[in-house]
Amino acid sequence: MTVEMNGKVLLTGATGFVGGRLLHALTGHGIDVRCLVRSPDRLRNQLFPEEEVEIFQGDLLKDENLDGVLEGIEVAYYMVHSMGGRTIGENKVFAERDRIAAENFIRAADKAGVSRVIYLGGLGETGDQLSKHLASRQEVAQILSSGSAQTTELRAPNIMGAGGAPFEMLRYLVERLPVMVCPRWIETRCQPIDIRDMVNYLLGCLREPATAGLSFDVGGPDIVTYREMMEIYTKVRSLKRLIITVPVLTPRLSTYWVNLVTPVPSGVVNPLVEGLRNEVICRENRIRELIPMQLMPLEQSICNALKEVEKGPGKLVSQQACFFQDRKSNT
Ligand SMILES: NC(=O)c1ccc[n+]([C@@H]2O[C@H](COP(=O)([O-])OP(=O)(O)OC[C@H]3O[C@@H](n4cnc5c(N)ncnc54)[C@H](OP(=O)(O)O)[C@@H]3O)[C@@H](O)[C@H]2O)c1
Repeated sequence: MTVEMNGKVLLTGATGFVGGRLLHALTGHGIDVRCLVRSPDRLRNQLFPEEEVEIFQGDLLKDENLDGVLEGIEVAYYMVHSMGGRTIGENKVFAERDRIAAENFIRAADKAGVSRVIYLGGLGETGDQLSKHLASRQEVAQILSSGSAQTTELRAPNIMGAGGAPFEMLRYLVERLPVMVCPRWIETRCQPIDIRDMVNYLLGCLREPATAGLSFDVGGPDIVTYREMMEIYTKVRSLKRLIITVPVLTPRLSTYWVNLVTPVPSGVVNPLVEGLRNEVICRENRIRELIPMQLMPLEQSICNALKEVEKGPGKLVSQQACFFQDRKSNT
């Protein structure tokens, strides 16, 4: 894929799972990138030696320190969310934080005359039954679209890659539990997408002006239940696992269970597990015509993520695979 871009691109969330990989893809295409991060040191530790990016320190929750960050920027990626807090109090207010961060961002973008915003949000129907996490992702999309920039929203399901919450939850659950007593939500269907395909769609939006100002559902080639996802992982690893479904596990009990078994921070697990009752399946596939690519099957995606995990720390992708471990031990 060729991506031509003359101006500088602003990337938020560059220290995150998706943003970190998008950063490599952007610099790999020779695109001039400015990153807005809370912790420049964390970002510097994740850069490849040859990688040069402009780093701007700022917190989207603090309106006053965003002055200048979007000056001279034509396109900005919004790859931020506030889940993963370290205290129960922080975890309860992630939606409010995400609202404030998006409002501060779009105000600064309008002031600087940014023409395009590309936002990675979440799939899921609208309505009362939507989980707090998915409803918050949709609220952020609305806030970003209220500005004068043309906002592209990519509504994504679980993104599979080493270091990402969906894959790490799957990995730890299946690896650690020979007998899995699972709640009913394991029969919910989803359409996971590989991290490389996700990054290619994000890059493609930069290249394809027809995506400006529109919202697209994105997903992988396989529609599976969470049970089938666990079975595919089991097959790839040649493990023997027994999966038993019980009706009594409430979302709250399920989060205790996932928190106990996986090192993924509770601030990420709780809203994600609550959201597992909602199907995340594309309602339309217009993106496939605008940004055509061969999508990676789930089984291959799991194989690739496991290979990255095996490599261990050293390069960004595998360093992130150990990221949750580090985070949890620091709390
Ligand atoms: N991962 C998935 O499977 C998935 C699926 C669908 C949609 N998405 C969407 O993709 C986007 C990125 O997700 P992710 O998995 O990459 O998340 P992530 O790894 O948790 O990264 C979140 C990023 O947001 C930054 N951030 C949080 N609060 C901030 C603030 N106040 N100011 C500046 N930066 C802030 C974090 O910076 P620090 O390093 O400073 O904390 C981090 O870089 C989110 O919108 C998410 O909803 C993800």
